[in-house]
Amino acid sequence: MEQTLSIVKPDGVKKNIMGEVIARFERNGLRIAALKMLKLSKEDAKNFYIVHKDKPFYNSLTDFMSEGPIVVMAIEGENAISRVRDIMGATNPKNAAPGTIRADFASDIEHNIVHGSDSQASASYEIPFFFSSLEIL
Ligand code: RTP
Ligand code: MG
Repeated sequence: MEQTLSIVKPDGVKKNIMGEVIARFERNGLRIAALKMLKLSKEDAKNFYIVHKDKPFYNSLTDFMSEGPIVVMAIEGENAISRVRDIMGATNPKNAAPGTIRADFASDIEHNIVHGSDSQASASYEIPFFFSSLEIL
């Protein structure tokens, strides 16, 4: 069993597809172990995406991630990290496989609807960033 962190980004919440994103994970047999809606400050977004601090898109990414409500969830299942990434599709929706969330809903490489931890190391940073152990069921 593996746990991963996923986020419906501000564009996904704005497009009214938080339920659709969650449903795709559930239909794949993954289990939602924790869930909440909240809004990040710019500072929160910078800390969450600290691995990207030297990337050219760091400032616009953290502006975007703090512009509106998001839905964060801890997801559990066998190989949950790679399964969630597969359901999401490639970062750039132009390269995302048909039927993935990003291919179906994302408008561009930055506004791409959904986040998923990319490794066990990032899941170990990202899950406790949002959830205490009491909130993971
Ligand atoms: P995420 O971390 O959000 O799950 O996305 P990812 O692994 O597929 O992509 P990553 O390389 O980690 O990038 C994080 C997020 O930054 C935005 N981005 N913008 N303008 C650009 O070239 C660019 N590249 C990445 C996207 O929102 C991406 O998901
Ligand atoms: Mg990433």
